[in-house]
Amino acid sequence: MTAHATRRTFAIISHPDAGKTTLTEKLLLQGGAIHLAGEVKARGQARRARSDWMKIEQQRGISVTSSVMTFQKDGITFNLLDTPGHEDFSEDTYRTLTAVDSAIMVIDAAKGIEPQTRKLFEVCRMRSVPIITFVNKVDREGRSPFETLDEVADALALDVVPMAWPVGLGGTFQGVLDFATGLVSRPEGDSREFLGKREEMALPAEVADEVELARGGYPEFDLAAYRHGDLTPVYFGSALKNFGVAELIDAIARFAPPPRPQQSDQGEITPDRADVTGFVFKVQANMDPQHRDRIAFMRMVSGTFKRGMKLTPSGLGKPIAIHSPILFFAQDREIADTAEAGDIIGIPNHGTLRVGDTLSERNDVRFTGLPNFAPEILRRVALKDPTKTKQLRKALDDLSEEGVIQVFYPEIGAQWIVGVVGQLQLDVLISRLEAEYKVEAMLEASPFDTARWVKGSDGALKDFASFNMGNLAKDRDGDPVFMARSAWDVSYQQERNPELTFSATKER
Ligand code: G4P
Repeated sequence: MTAHATRRTFAIISHPDAGKTTLTEKLLLQGGAIHLAGEVKARGQARRARSDWMKIEQQRGISVTSSVMTFQKDGITFNLLDTPGHEDFSEDTYRTLTAVDSAIMVIDAAKGIEPQTRKLFEVCRMRSVPIITFVNKVDREGRSPFETLDEVADALALDVVPMAWPVGLGGTFQGVLDFATGLVSRPEGDSREFLGKREEMALPAEVADEVELARGGYPEFDLAAYRHGDLTPVYFGSALKNFGVAELIDAIARFAPPPRPQQSDQGEITPDRADVTGFVFKVQANMDPQHRDRIAFMRMVSGTFKRGMKLTPSGLGKPIAIHSPILFFAQDREIADTAEAGDIIGIPNHGTLRVGDTLSERNDVRFTGLPNFAPEILRRVALKDPTKTKQLRKALDDLSEEGVIQVFYPEIGAQWIVGVVGQLQLDVLISRLEAEYKVEAMLEASPFDTARWVKGSDGALKDFASFNMGNLAKDRDGDPVFMARSAWDVSYQQERNPELTFSATKER
């Protein structure tokens, strides 16, 4: 087997409180990656309160080690990428999902599909990311498994295939039946946890009926349909009590795809390609406020990376030697010696690497499909102390590089505009401006409602600019952006300027 065939790079998508943190911890424990139960948990609890979450995020060291968690089991290397757990959406979340090959969708057995689950699912669907479903908390009272299965099938338009079945829920919970083996994982001891006891058991009559119906009423598992994103195998379990976790790891190892080919300007790049290519999907700045260092997270697409190798970032044009790459073994950062397609490496740098950059040995390829999204909320940034303009500009450039915000510099006037996808990003912006750049800023209503990247010939752009200077801005890269007062404004300009394109996303 080639090395990359042993890689499984995935994320967990869920609504807050469904049990993502608990499940993450259990997966890492089973993979031997953490020894202290509770480490991941502590982070989850802190995150729940917004203010705490920001404090934690400001102590960058904590979140960076947990952005990527690597563990190994039975010869397979699992790379679990963390998606921010809060309710507001950020581009960070979208982008992380561009770097995975599959996802686990965690659903609370009592609540079913919740809004955040659905949004994240839509992003996975856009990219045909295959999904394994884990219905969590079966040790508690919940809905009938049929209801949950039908809801997933209807709400997400997916074929569902139950792979296991809870023997009772809540008070009547007696274990989880694995359809493949016919064995029931049984609770033991006072805590009623799963400690490894699997046995045949006579099912209570109503559960036996359910199982018969379930086994007859849903399609057979079909690997190709799952990998295509049309079908989801469904596991039932309890992250807290450890039911179904081993089965889930096994399912990822057996079914989830190894590294997939990635789209580029040269067509698909497959993991078999010999030379190293990859792309940056996340940048985390200011991990140490004393040194303005950053870590760029690169998803390897092809080749075998070796420490000290020279790679050329598409944004820079000249090669950089990567001497101290970071691999992420759960809580401990380790210096990477080699990495394969599917792996994530952290590259310390001083701002040379940006989200969306391609890195390659031969500098002959650009990955596509890592978009900037049109911001849904625009605000003008006003300074409390006007002498801090330089610091503000630096901060806005840095934070937009990280993907926390987008920034637009209008052609006329000095008031810079920031754009975000979710409200929480604005809170993070203000708090980080203060904490990391000592800049006190206020956000004011913006005269604009939405932004579109404008493309066209130099002549057409110049014509357009001469009539619309008041609505033009540059983004961080200096590319022209049309700031619109309304969606109507956008379609009006599009109609009047057929030679220009106005796009809601900017692919780098
Ligand atoms: P999140 O990361 O998706 O937000 O969820 P998290 O794992 O933090 O879990 C949310 C709550 O659900 C926690 O309870 C957790 O203990 C509980 N939980 C997770 N999995 C299960 C399960 O399989 N069964 C049961 N019964 N509960 C589960 P909490 O009360 O908020 O925290 P704690 O005080 O119990 O630690």
